[in-house]
Amino acid sequence: MANESNRRDFLKTSSLLTGGAILGSLPFASKAATGKSGYHFSVNDTIKVALIGCGGRGTGAAQQALSTKQNVQIVAMADAFRDRLDESYKNITNFLTAKNLKAADGTSKLNVPDANKFVGFDAYKQAMALADVVILATPPGFRPSHFEEAVRQGKQIFMEKPVATDAPGVRRVLAAAEEAKKKKLNVVVGLQRHYQPNYREMIKRIHDGALGDIVGGQVYWISGGVWHKPRKPNQTEMDYQMRNWYYFNWLCGDHINEQHIHNIDVANWVKKGYPVSCQGTGGRQVRNGKDDGEIFDHHIVDFTYADGTTINSQCRHYEGTYSKVDEMFLGTKGRVDSFGQKSILMDYKGQPIYTHNGKSDGNPYQIEHDELFDAIAKGEYKFADAENGAKSTMTAIMGRMATYSGKVVKWDEALNSQIDLFPDKLAWDAMPKSLPDKDGFYQIAVPGKTITV
Ligand SMILES: NC(=O)c1ccc[n+]([C@@H]2O[C@H](COP(=O)([O-])OP(=O)(O)OC[C@H]3O[C@@H](n4cnc5c(N)ncnc54)[C@H](O)[C@@H]3O)[C@@H](O)[C@H]2O)c1
Repeated sequence: MANESNRRDFLKTSSLLTGGAILGSLPFASKAATGKSGYHFSVNDTIKVALIGCGGRGTGAAQQALSTKQNVQIVAMADAFRDRLDESYKNITNFLTAKNLKAADGTSKLNVPDANKFVGFDAYKQAMALADVVILATPPGFRPSHFEEAVRQGKQIFMEKPVATDAPGVRRVLAAAEEAKKKKLNVVVGLQRHYQPNYREMIKRIHDGALGDIVGGQVYWISGGVWHKPRKPNQTEMDYQMRNWYYFNWLCGDHINEQHIHNIDVANWVKKGYPVSCQGTGGRQVRNGKDDGEIFDHHIVDFTYADGTTINSQCRHYEGTYSKVDEMFLGTKGRVDSFGQKSILMDYKGQPIYTHNGKSDGNPYQIEHDELFDAIAKGEYKFADAENGAKSTMTAIMGRMATYSGKVVKWDEALNSQIDLFPDKLAWDAMPKSLPDKDGFYQIAVPGKTITV
């Protein structure tokens, strides 16, 4: 019973705990330590989850949470739009039926009565209050405020990447990350390569020196791009930008932030640090329509690290062209050309130093939830991903600052930038900061003229 009692106290009282976080398997405060008692412990004890942002990824993350070994239930859902929430509810219902997944007492794992479905900009607060664990999966512009609130309410947290779209947002996440550590709240960030066996095994060996010092590398997300949600008649500007969020920086941060963060984060992980500066080039080569908002369609950035080495990053959204989502690194003793299914660390004669065949590796999206819910169920504090999530987000934003401005951007000035992209007011009839001209086009950054820091 010790683990169960630890967990129940953990869920109820972790917000009261203070003290520096030492990650490992720290069992949580016992009843004696917290002064709490009177909880009912049973193997069927439910871990209650609130889903905030019921789109594609939120729905997927909810399904992964519900597929863990623990007795997890979704008890609240929040979305800016009712139709997105309803669609997600339907998809989760169908998923549970198809997998024949039920709560320990035989009821549905999706236990969200209408009263627990919250809609609008403030919906997240009410939904969070009903849960032990929150899944934060809105567009990243909202992550700082949602993460702050989740930490304030003392919740265990899974939050998607990126965790912000501008430097003020990153600073808020960094501050809340410190609070989360003090409260010993587990925080997993959806940079799922950290939970993917081939990355874990390969990078562990790189850190152990298998390739010598890493002196260069290249990271890629070059692909055809993603969806659009074209403007509809009579939509307010706020409604339009919220639906077509990918193309607006206050919500998305550009695709260098939204997608390419995964590969940039791998570079930081391999280099065991964050770049001190960067410079880059980018623009809009093929994607110039009104519904393409204000983001670039390509960015190429040199990120320079404290040891003077540079990792080059490339991301683009060109339909009908070569695709590559991967990373390669060069060390003083050897190289790794890919982290694909069969990844090999090899010397410069082409001899393998280590080969990882990931054929039977689990799905990292599932592993991140399996590990998080296992820790929560055991009352352990194991995950503090928010700081790295924020700093890798900052790296991607710094890359955008460099491609938009055409200048060399330094880490400290980027992180301290006061440029705040978030609207002054959130309401369906309020105006975002970036507005279309009379022909419906948005202002696009012009390197050499645009100021980004
Ligand atoms: N780790 C990964 O591989 C991965 C993959 C896809 C998406 N993501 C991330 O997940 C997040 C969501 O992406 P998605 O593809 O699910 O987008 P999506 O548009 O499908 O879903 C976002 C949802 O959030 C809702 N929303 C917007 N603002 C909100 C607010 N203020 N409060 C509550 N709900 C709000 C939207 O209405 C929508 O339903 C993004 O940060 C994205 O980068 C991560």
